[in-house]
Amino acid sequence: MRVGQSGTGPGALTPDGSAVELYEVTPVHGEDQLINAAIEPGSSILELGCGTGRITRPLLALGHQVLAVDESPDMVARVTETETICSSIGELRLDRRFDLVLMMSYLINVADDEERLRLLRTCAHHVRPGGTVLLQQQVPSMLRGPSVLENEHRRMVVSDVEELPGNRQAATLTYTIGGRTWSQRILTQNLSEEQLTSQLAAAGLTLTDYLTLDQTWVRARPS
Ligand SMILES: C[S@@+](CC[C@H](N)C(=O)[O-])C[C@H]1O[C@@H](n2cnc3c(N)ncnc32)[C@H](O)[C@@H]1O
Repeated sequence: MRVGQSGTGPGALTPDGSAVELYEVTPVHGEDQLINAAIEPGSSILELGCGTGRITRPLLALGHQVLAVDESPDMVARVTETETICSSIGELRLDRRFDLVLMMSYLINVADDEERLRLLRTCAHHVRPGGTVLLQQQVPSMLRGPSVLENEHRRMVVSDVEELPGNRQAATLTYTIGGRTWSQRILTQNLSEEQLTSQLAAAGLTLTDYLTLDQTWVRARPS
């Protein structure tokens, strides 16, 4: 397991504690449309941390080509509609460049500066000149516990939130969908805009703007 991360619940779990069967039944929440609006039609996309293909499939349906990458063999096995690679993001080095490198699900908030730099270097390595890197980041207000976020598909309870030195937070996320419950303990690091800008720059990327007012969707380009 990754340091500070763990999970419980039915089915296979990934090294970061994500539950395969949870992501299999989690619907898309408009992320595909947000991404689609930020890129050209028919773009080539490298999706890092694809999980079960929750976002991969809608992006394919919108006419993009997606290479989906995840370190969990149980996750990539669920993505049957396109090319996949089972690899950790930090170690991925392909001799290919993409219009868009997509790394969502708050992977950028890993609470380890060296690992974050490895993730960003992989993004920078695989984006074509003039291409786009899209990151989904966590902002501090997201982990305020205890809280309950409920919609028609699922119930998510945020509990046992710990504020740790260095803008780090630990929390337990408990998801209930269709009578099944999964729990994930996460350790994350919130990034100020200054930290984000300097880490992007260290990887050869420049922060250009945010796709959303809450600044959770970050757009960067090769420097
Ligand atoms: C929370 S799931 C989300 C999956 C997908 N992005 C979605 O939104 O449905 C995070 C995924 O990222 C993968 N992951 C996390 N860290 C990774 C790393 N360093 N290298 C490769 N995959 C990673 C996990 O295995 C997991 O499948």
